[in-house]
Amino acid sequence: MTELDARLGKLLDGRKEKNRFRSFKEYDTTSDSGLVDFSSNDYLSLTSSKALRKAYIERLASTPSIFGSTGSRLLSGCTPSHSLLEKRFSEFFNAPSSLLFNSGWDANVSFFSSVPQPNDWIIYDELVHASVHSGLRSSRIPLERRISFSHNDPLSLEDKLKIITNQASSSSSSKKQEKSTVFLALESLYSMDGDFSPLPKLLDILDKYISRNRQCVILDEAHSTGVYGKQGRGITHALAEEGGFELDSNKRKRGKGRVDVRLMTFGKAVGCSGAVLLCSPTVRSFLINFARPLIFSTALPHSTIIALECVWDVLQSEEGDQRRRSLMSLSTHIHNSLDKLLSKVPHTILHLPPDPIIPFPDLSDRDTDILPSKPGSPILGLLTPTPHALSAFLLSKGFIVRPVVPPTVPPGGERVRICLRAGMRYGIIDKLVAALGDWADLKMAEKDQEVRAKL
Ligand SMILES: Cc1ncc(COP(=O)(O)O)c(C=O)c1O
Repeated sequence: MTELDARLGKLLDGRKEKNRFRSFKEYDTTSDSGLVDFSSNDYLSLTSSKALRKAYIERLASTPSIFGSTGSRLLSGCTPSHSLLEKRFSEFFNAPSSLLFNSGWDANVSFFSSVPQPNDWIIYDELVHASVHSGLRSSRIPLERRISFSHNDPLSLEDKLKIITNQASSSSSSKKQEKSTVFLALESLYSMDGDFSPLPKLLDILDKYISRNRQCVILDEAHSTGVYGKQGRGITHALAEEGGFELDSNKRKRGKGRVDVRLMTFGKAVGCSGAVLLCSPTVRSFLINFARPLIFSTALPHSTIIALECVWDVLQSEEGDQRRRSLMSLSTHIHNSLDKLLSKVPHTILHLPPDPIIPFPDLSDRDTDILPSKPGSPILGLLTPTPHALSAFLLSKGFIVRPVVPPTVPPGGERVRICLRAGMRYGIIDKLVAALGDWADLKMAEKDQEVRAKL
């Protein structure tokens, strides 16, 4: 064993001792395996759509270039099909311009490492994705100007904004401060708790402290792309249609929330890979000049561009609406079933985080498809102190439900993460809930025995 292997081995042993060791687990999720996958982000079940597969294969067969793009977008990788897809996305999402990336990770790292400048501020929800942190680590914003606020907590955001404004008013270089931008990084639907950002509330608070021309709000819609809004255009788009939000940062309407940059990713409900950043033409041009993951990496292959075209044909059809409706209905079903089950189970064994805050305007009088008054979430984070044991128990019953432990979630936030897919049957969800009930019974019996043993 080399010195390096020995040292790395020790570090890995440390992880194992803390129960944080990661390794790949391969599961056969074909229908013959008997396993049902509750860990996949394929929220609309598009990866198993026979019609989509057929359309994709047909389109591949009739397209001359189907392999790699052969270079970065700045070299040979800028083809008409890449540009046409960006045009389609700008129109679909009603965005001033759009820029493709090889992944959501690349898009976040690109944006946060290059766009914020040394005199700017960044405030982010404490639960934003690791890619935002990685981007910020290589950004030029000093550490003391990167501030997190408590998850989805408007009061905490307000406290942090007060810090910024107080510092600005006491600073000697007030001219520079006047020009500095305050970036606010949020997700529309958080991937671990499955809860929505109270977006209108947060943006109202931002407006209270920072003038509109000094704001830059970035919303990561990785988990809402394809799932919410008209034909899956996302939550910001839905808020623009129903709640007076503004999608173009150059139109600064007062009194309405504004999102400057949106990240839509293709690895989850869209069933492919890659991402598109929706932003102003200037931000787009800046990224093309300074974003290293974009400049120094081969652009998305033609096969992916073709797949995305085919997926968007589905999203923009009645089938897309049916898939979204089915997902929402399954979400309501599992929430109702779990509420019933968990009302009888002690918190210490199994519980759900508090009911997600619904960020949308009150539409109780008109429940539209575009923006349901109480949208369901396809993600449930079921908190338990022993997620590995629960995951193994569920696997023995035929369900793939993955444990999530620190550092992915904060200590005390250990959980199993349940993800729904539009193609699931109600019966399979009932079976999963029954298995969770069996686990809770076992744990309650164990606790009972412990108490008796002490008597
Ligand atoms: C909120 C969020 N943003 C960004 C990403 C990265 O996206 P991708 O998988 O396309 O790299 C993820 C993926 O897990 C995510 O959950």
